[in-house]
Amino acid sequence: MIFDWPARMRQMADFVGFTDDDLELLRASGPLLIDRADDLAAAVYEHFLSYPATARYFLTRDGEVNETRLTRRKHSLARWLRNSIEFNIDEQFPVFLLAVGVVHSNPPAPAGRHGSVPARFMTGTISFIQTQIASTLAEEMDDPTAAMRTAIAWNKMLMLQLDVLLAGYITETPTPPRPDAPLMDDDGREIEPEVTVTPDSSRRNGSPQTHQEN
Ligand code: HEM
Repeated sequence: MIFDWPARMRQMADFVGFTDDDLELLRASGPLLIDRADDLAAAVYEHFLSYPATARYFLTRDGEVNETRLTRRKHSLARWLRNSIEFNIDEQFPVFLLAVGVVHSNPPAPAGRHGSVPARFMTGTISFIQTQIASTLAEEMDDPTAAMRTAIAWNKMLMLQLDVLLAGYITETPTPPRPDAPLMDDDGREIEPEVTVTPDSSRRNGSPQTHQEN
């Protein structure tokens, strides 16, 4: 696990192919999306309230919507969206994201009364936001190709954020490589040493196919 968070974000940016062009597209979409940040935040919270599993974080003991908390949360989300529009892998943004992730994975009181927000809803929320942003861009931009490229840039950038947002949830316990371990086929049978393994791209799960060497 890498704990230099900006370095980790840069590594992931490289992995998902988030380029300087993507950054430019993102920045160019700023004015358009900043105007819609409050609407986007409102749509996210409307969505939360329409599912009992996510609505419960925003209800009073009597089961009514806690309007004060909801308004505060909408502002927090709109602020996060604005920060995202100014996306930059500096020292601060990854730490801000980590803190936001921890508020959800290990919520402090008073929100802690409801327990953690399950990680799958963090993933689902990012997906929901990606869809909202792509739809907004498609509606508002005249050039459909530019709208699609901008949506792709946003998708990649939000995945980079999700990696950090989920860090408070995930405990990775990687097993080290074992170069001397026997080579197994898909059914767990040991493959003979003289048999080579070559990837076969026609197999949809990407698993290798064995064949005898001549
Ligand atoms: C990608 C997804 C999400 C983002 C970016 C996000 C963003 C934020 C931000 C910026 C805050 C304020 C943190 C602070 O006080 O410093 C917050 C708080 C909160 N969020 Fe989220 N949120 C996400 C998903 C969710 C989901 C799925 C739920 C529950 C259904 C949720 C429930 C809450 C609650 C209850 C708080 C208040 C914690 C407190 O009062 O201490 N959030 N969120």
